Order: sequence, then structure tokens, then C-alpha cells
Amino acid sequence: IARKATPGQFVHLRCLNSTEPLLRRPFSFHKLNHNNFEILYKVKGLGTNLLAKKQKGDKIDVLGPLGNGFDIQQTNRPTNQQTILVAGGMGVAPLLALAERLADRKEIVVLLGAKSKDSILCARDFSKLGAKVQIATDDGSRGHKGFVTDLLNTVLQSTVNNQQSTIYACGPKPMLKEIAHITFPNPIFVQGSLEENMACGVGACLGCAIKTKAGYKRVCKDGPVFNLREIKW
Ligand code: FES
Repeated sequence: IARKATPGQFVHLRCLNSTEPLLRRPFSFHKLNHNNFEILYKVKGLGTNLLAKKQKGDKIDVLGPLGNGFDIQQTNRPTNQQTILVAGGMGVAPLLALAERLADRKEIVVLLGAKSKDSILCARDFSKLGAKVQIATDDGSRGHKGFVTDLLNTVLQSTVNNQQSTIYACGPKPMLKEIAHITFPNPIFVQGSLEENMACGVGACLGCAIKTKAGYKRVCKDGPVFNLREIKW
């Protein structure tokens, strides 16, 4: 799985080897090496609670890699332009794996949004990769007080030729929608990974369908990475 996977794809895990809970849970690749991968998750429900109880050596039923990851090559686009990663909360999960693959880019700016300073994730990991990290918190306990999209606005406004920038994002829907709004109608390359509940994870149940300008798409099979401006918000 690790060898085939690209950043933005995900695995579908069975949290317990029984029918309770029935559904698998999707987790994006957080770190990807040749021989192994890591996921990042927050314990918040039955599935993740069970997962957190796993011991070293326990076996887990894993399906993957699934879905389509970020377009790193971006055919015909200059790769020496600024690359901006925008993460809201747990949205950092796939963006760290992506940042590792983008290490040869000229300039990587990482914008992290969190509720407060205690919930900021991976800032040091991104810095170690040479990225310039900026932080926004809802309560102002660290960095800019407000939304991470405020930071994005500022970065874009202070960038000459910002139309050649590349934006990759992951986080809550309102954040992704705002990014689509901020970048419209500039031809900035902007991809976002959608977080959606998934039942089958392989395109069969249609439970994760979203509306796009080209009709309904399945987040698990056609995404989870989409051109954010193609989505009907
Ligand atoms: Fe079943 Fe996407 S989860 S189609």
C-alpha cells in the first residue's frame, strides 16, 4: 500500500475485526515512506476509540490506497512558483505527506488554522521540511486571530504574479468553499481534499456523492481531491 500510494489518497480501515462497528473508517496518508505509512486521527467516536486501543503487533484490516490524490505534476505549470498549503484542523493529515513530496519546490508556505494554540498540529514538521509556516487560531492564542483563509488572502495579495501560485488545501467545507471564493476568477491552481463520511469507500454505494459543475461525483472514487472551483457549494 505504501509503495503505491500518493498524497491525498486514503485507506479504509476496519477498526475492529467484527461487524461492530459495521463501517470502515477513511484515513488519509499522513506520512508515506517506501515501506510504511502513518495516519493521523483524533479520537472522537466509536471507530477511532477502538483504533486508539490497538497495541503494537495487532492486525488491522486495511483497504487501499483508495481515491485520487493531489496532482503534484500539474502538467504545463511552472513548478518554481510559490506553493501554498492550507490546513484547517485535522486537515493537516494529508498535507504533511504532500509537503514531503514537494520538498524540491522553490517556496512552500503552510497556513495552519486551529481552534487554539493547543490544537495546532505538525507546525514543527512542516518547518523541518523548509516550509514557511503561518498560524491562525480562532481565539488568538497563537498567530493571527481569525480564520486561516485570512492568512491566505494576505499571502496572495502580497505575492507578485499570484496567479501562478499553487494551492493545496484540506479542512472543513466552509474553509474550502472560502478558498474557492477567494481565488475566483483567477486561474490559480487550487485543489482541496474533501472530508466526507464514507460507507463503501470504493464508489459503489453513492453515499458520499457531492454536486459539481460536471454533475454528481463520488468523494471516495472521483476524489477525495477535487479542483475546488468545480464544486457546487
Ligand atoms: Fe460509497 Fe463513496 S462511500 S460511493
